[in-house]
Amino acid sequence: MLKGSKVGLRARHEDDIPILQAELYGDVVYQSRADDGPWRPITSGSGDAPYVVDDTEVRHAPFSVVELDGGTLIGVASLWDIDNHNRSAHIGIGLLPSSRGKGYGTDVVAVLCHYGFVVRGLHRLQIETLSDNVAMLTAAERNGFVREGVLRSNAWVMGEFLDEVLLGLLVQDWKPDSTG
Ligand SMILES: CC(C)(COP(=O)(O)OP(=O)(O)OC[C@H]1O[C@@H](n2cnc3c(N)ncnc32)[C@H](O)[C@@H]1OP(=O)(O)O)[C@@H](O)C(=O)NCCC(=O)NCCS
Repeated sequence: MLKGSKVGLRARHEDDIPILQAELYGDVVYQSRADDGPWRPITSGSGDAPYVVDDTEVRHAPFSVVELDGGTLIGVASLWDIDNHNRSAHIGIGLLPSSRGKGYGTDVVAVLCHYGFVVRGLHRLQIETLSDNVAMLTAAERNGFVREGVLRSNAWVMGEFLDEVLLGLLVQDWKPDSTG
């Protein structure tokens, strides 16, 4: 398990999946904001079921996020589109509703930076998030990510096009203890 100051990032367990499907995938607004495709009902247990991990997908490192104190499941986090030639990857995070706004997200970004830069030897990490997602923007910026651009009207979300912000962090600018 990878450890931050508040959270642990571990492999997905079988009994995480129904909780994640109900609390994250079952929330149509959350899922519409998080995904770049349309929400649709998916039968649990089907091959397309969300949060089931395909361990053969080497460009994706999916974690379940737990509280360090007690081990309660609080969400998911991943490095995705890991590119070992350009040594870059993207960060994705989704916390269960009851675990948001408690400082966990900032700590998850810190742990993912450690995983990307130290464990995987990457050079650049990237985050794309909706421009109104203040919590994600702040969690990223508190870890040293800088805004590199706005992708105007890049996301169709619940009946409207929304802007996305692209943030990046290079390994030489990363300060492991920057979250304070
Ligand atoms: C985005 C997310 C990962 C952030 O994690 P979090 O644990 O809620 O955020 P934190 O508690 O670490 O807060 C980060 C900062 O944002 C601020 N913040 C938190 N929630 C906020 C909100 N709803 N509105 C405005 N600011 C907020 C906090 O005050 C904190 O700033 P500070 O460090 O200066 O005090 C989490 O809210 C989440 O999973 N949301 C739903 C899924 C999502 O949006 N994922 C990102 C897709 S790219």
